[in-house]
Amino acid sequence: PRRTSGPLGEQPEGGRSCEMGSRGGGLHPDVERELFSAECLAARVGEVGRALAAELEGKRPLLLGVLRGAFVFAADLVRALEPVPEGTEVGFLRASSYGAGTESSGQVRVDAPPPDVRGRHVVLVEDIVDTGRTLAALVARLRAEGAESVTTCTLLDKAARRVVDVHVDHSCFACPDEFVVGYGLDFDERYRTLPYIGVLKPAAYSGLSSD
Ligand code: XMP
Ligand code: MG
Repeated sequence: PRRTSGPLGEQPEGGRSCEMGSRGGGLHPDVERELFSAECLAARVGEVGRALAAELEGKRPLLLGVLRGAFVFAADLVRALEPVPEGTEVGFLRASSYGAGTESSGQVRVDAPPPDVRGRHVVLVEDIVDTGRTLAALVARLRAEGAESVTTCTLLDKAARRVVDVHVDHSCFACPDEFVVGYGLDFDERYRTLPYIGVLKPAAYSGLSSD
């Protein structure tokens, strides 16, 4: 699926790599390598926030973060909206896919009730788009519930693994086909608090469930 270029020159391939500031303080022992440093994340989220703000001016947007993985990204993104579109509101919804491990399953459950989206310009804020099933299910649900428009925004895009052709309007970074953690993303509820995005050592997978 083609991603649009944003007003501030977002990359058509869904993001960019980052050369900035690799971690001096050492990585978590289960992390193989750092992909995106805290500084790099802040810089790119700032860019995307400003692009979104320009696009959403006059629309009284409702930004909806997808729990739990997107909570850190959403918190930074909403603070990067500059200038803040009048009437901006923030909410969250929760989606989970059935299944376990590091692969997403075919079925997505959207936990009800999501915020009232009737007539609203909604921005869905996701941590990572992998097969695309979660995002596609959420977009369909929001449209069915009467959203005026749905803009999709993700921190990471694992485009190589896409199964469902879902449109991503804003992607901060292209993500390699490896299991990543940190900055809100977990494996079995661990590693969410790391301030950077890193590739998990395969030895750290133990066949436990993950969302
Ligand atoms: P789909 O396949 O529906 O999946 O696009 C999106 C969800 O899959 C999870 N996911 C990951 N979580 N590191 C994670 O912590 C990863 O590398 C990863 N890849 C997919 C995540 O829950 C996301 O919302
Ligand atoms: Mg998630």
